[in-house]
Amino acid sequence: MQALEYVRTNQTKFQAELEEFLSIASISTQPEHKSDISYAATWLRDRLLIAGFPKVDVMPTPGHPVVYAEWLPAGDDAPTILIYGHYDVQPPDPLEEWNTPPFEPTIVGYDIFARGAADDKGQLYVHVKAIEAFKETAGAPPINVKCIFEGEEECGSPNLEPFVRENADLLAADVAVISDTHILGKEMPSIVYALRGLTYVEVEVTGPDHDLHSGSYGGAVHNPIHALCEMIVSLQDEDGRITIPGFYDNVQELETEERAELAKAPFEREKWLREAGVSTDWGESAYTIVERTTARPTLDVNGIWGGYIQPGAKTVLPSKAFAKISMRLVPNQDPVEITQLVQDYLVEIAPPAVTVKVRDLHDGECAIVRRDSPAMQAAFRAYTEVFGKQPIFVREGGSIPVVATFQRVLGIETVLMGFGLPDDRLHSPNEKFHLPNFYKGIETAIHFMRFLAKP
Ligand code: BES
Ligand code: ZN
Repeated sequence: MQALEYVRTNQTKFQAELEEFLSIASISTQPEHKSDISYAATWLRDRLLIAGFPKVDVMPTPGHPVVYAEWLPAGDDAPTILIYGHYDVQPPDPLEEWNTPPFEPTIVGYDIFARGAADDKGQLYVHVKAIEAFKETAGAPPINVKCIFEGEEECGSPNLEPFVRENADLLAADVAVISDTHILGKEMPSIVYALRGLTYVEVEVTGPDHDLHSGSYGGAVHNPIHALCEMIVSLQDEDGRITIPGFYDNVQELETEERAELAKAPFEREKWLREAGVSTDWGESAYTIVERTTARPTLDVNGIWGGYIQPGAKTVLPSKAFAKISMRLVPNQDPVEITQLVQDYLVEIAPPAVTVKVRDLHDGECAIVRRDSPAMQAAFRAYTEVFGKQPIFVREGGSIPVVATFQRVLGIETVLMGFGLPDDRLHSPNEKFHLPNFYKGIETAIHFMRFLAKP
């Protein structure tokens, strides 16, 4: 097939373009990177134009822009796909832990190291190159294609749902495609069919109304940092089960059949421990590691601070303590309800000497997608073709809230066609993307479109 040939002969060129894309520090959460975000959006627009899209727009939102592209060469009877990706990235900190600078893409062996390499610039770019391959060989893709690339995914997509609602007609499609997840291994293709939801709160605990000398007041004033730690400890029991009343009320328990199916996926505990960099696992003992990390709800403190943290010692009993707490949610748990439960419980368990404020930072719904759609079949065949092995269906512990938005607002399912690897170090120093997966991803996307056009 000519499109595949085009990919194979242009790998070096594609890699150079990816390096250019990865060198833009499009960090969505940090206002000082606003111009990098705009640059990444226009860079992507230009690449989409080169790939053949006759219509490409950088569309403003109250936050960072959406890059929208459309090419409908296959007529009304042909399927239309909506490709979603995000061109924003997480902050790179802690900087000192990177082996090479996060925005100076570096190739080591077959991996490209940079912030955003796998999450999600490299994976998004797979689709741009697949379309270009059709343009350069067949003249056009065999189906209709729309793209929506957002710049705020890593800060909770605050403006995406309103954007999708307002532009529902523009975005109308038969199915969405997202490459923002990973496969089980280099030679172990997999397709994600479930994602967890998320709720994220910031807790502020106040004790005395100003910082106190710990010599004068320590021992008789409840230290808010201690109080916060006590509260955090009581959010979970020793087995890792969350103790917030009502938290598990609506949780959809795994069916025996699905547990058996999940257990079939290859999983090596030792390898998993090595990847995580820990000596042993932790958590609900009645569930396997795979179940705990993909199908069970969880609670994590993402950060905690307060008092004196500069060099040297300062004797102080601080006035305030803070923590950022997130919870991964599973089907039937409503993020808004869970946030309320957490908030009420934190207020209830606060020791008498402190006051508590809980701020909702963002929510995201979980999603389960259909596995029997024509698009899923096309993806299944495409992976099989490229990886020489049938993909297995897996659940993912991370969250991509737009999948639920597409189901609810546009009434469409999503195919999660990921090409990352489990050790890509998303959100962490030394993030990477395995370059062979980049090229195989492009080939898989080409086959996917071909199979979707002619089932
Ligand atoms: N690409 C990730 C989702 C993901 C995480 C896939 C882990 C596979 C493994 C996505 O960009 C992400 O980080 N999502 C956030 C969602 C949040 C900000 C609403 C997450 O899961 O923390
Ligand atoms: Zn992502």
